[in-house]
Amino acid sequence: MNQPQADIGVIGGSGFYSFLDDVTEVAVDTPYGAPSDSLFLGEIAGRRVAFLPRHGREHAIPPHRINYRANLWALRSLGVRQVLGPCAVGGLRPEFGPGTLLVPDQLVDRTKSRTQTFFDGEPLADGGTPNVVHVSFADPYCPTGREVALAAARGRAWEPVDGGTMVVIEGPRFSTRAESRWHAAQGWSVVGMTGHPEAMLARELELCYTSMALVTDLDAGAETGEGVSHKEVLEVFSANVGRLREVLFDAVAKLPETVGRDCLCVAALDGWEPGIALP
Ligand code: ADE
Repeated sequence: MNQPQADIGVIGGSGFYSFLDDVTEVAVDTPYGAPSDSLFLGEIAGRRVAFLPRHGREHAIPPHRINYRANLWALRSLGVRQVLGPCAVGGLRPEFGPGTLLVPDQLVDRTKSRTQTFFDGEPLADGGTPNVVHVSFADPYCPTGREVALAAARGRAWEPVDGGTMVVIEGPRFSTRAESRWHAAQGWSVVGMTGHPEAMLARELELCYTSMALVTDLDAGAETGEGVSHKEVLEVFSANVGRLREVLFDAVAKLPETVGRDCLCVAALDGWEPGIALP
C-alpha cells in the first residue's frame, strides 16, 4: 500500500496533543531517527493535513530533547511543504498578557545544545558533493503563511499581534528575572523554548513555516509574583486551545496550493548542491 500523503503540517505544542478527529496514524522513520510521535493524517476543507505533537502525545519529550530534524524530515517525506507551528510562549511586555496570539516575524536563538542543520558537512565516503549549505534566514518565517495566520485569527475575532521577535531559550527551566528583563530590554516580544531550530530546519528543507505563538504567561521580568510555572502554562493553553484549533483550521483552509508557492522559502536551496537528497 502507498504511504498516505499530506500537504500541510501542524506541529502542536505544550497542551496541544491532538488536532483532527478522523485520522490515520502513520509511524514514520527518518535518517535522523524517530520523530516525536506518529503523524496523524486527516483532511480539512479538502486539504491533506499531518499533525505531529511536538513533545509527543504524553508530553514526554522536553524542548531540548526534541528531535527537530526527524520531525521536519518526517513531515516533508509525507509530502508536506507548508507548516504551521503553534507554540506556548511567555509575554515580555505587559500588554502581551495570557491569551495574546502573536505571529512573530523575527527570531533570536538563545539555545545551546541543539543540532540546527541538515547540512553538517560530514565527509562523503563516495567523494560526492560536500554537504555544506548556508541558507538565508534574515526573514525566518513564511510571509504568505504569516498573512494567512493573521487573517484566520481576525476572522475568528481574535485580534493577533502582527509581528514581533520570539527569543528561544534552551530550557527546560524558565528564565530568571534578570534574563527576562534583559530579553525585554532588547525589544523582544515573547519567549519560548521550541521555535528554534524548528523554523531553521524547515527553511533548510524549503518548507514554508509559520509560527503562531500563544502567550500563556507574563515572563518573570514582566511578572510581579512568583514567576512562571508549568501548571500556569498548561492551564492557559488548554483554556485557549479550542479557539486556537479553530484558527488553525481556517488557516489550513486558506493556505495556497503547494504547487505555485512563490515565497522565499521555496528557493532556500537555490545555488547550493546539498550533499543529501531531500525526501
Ligand atoms: N513557554 C510558555 N511560557 C514560557 C516562558 N515564560 N518562557 C519560556 N517558554 C515558555
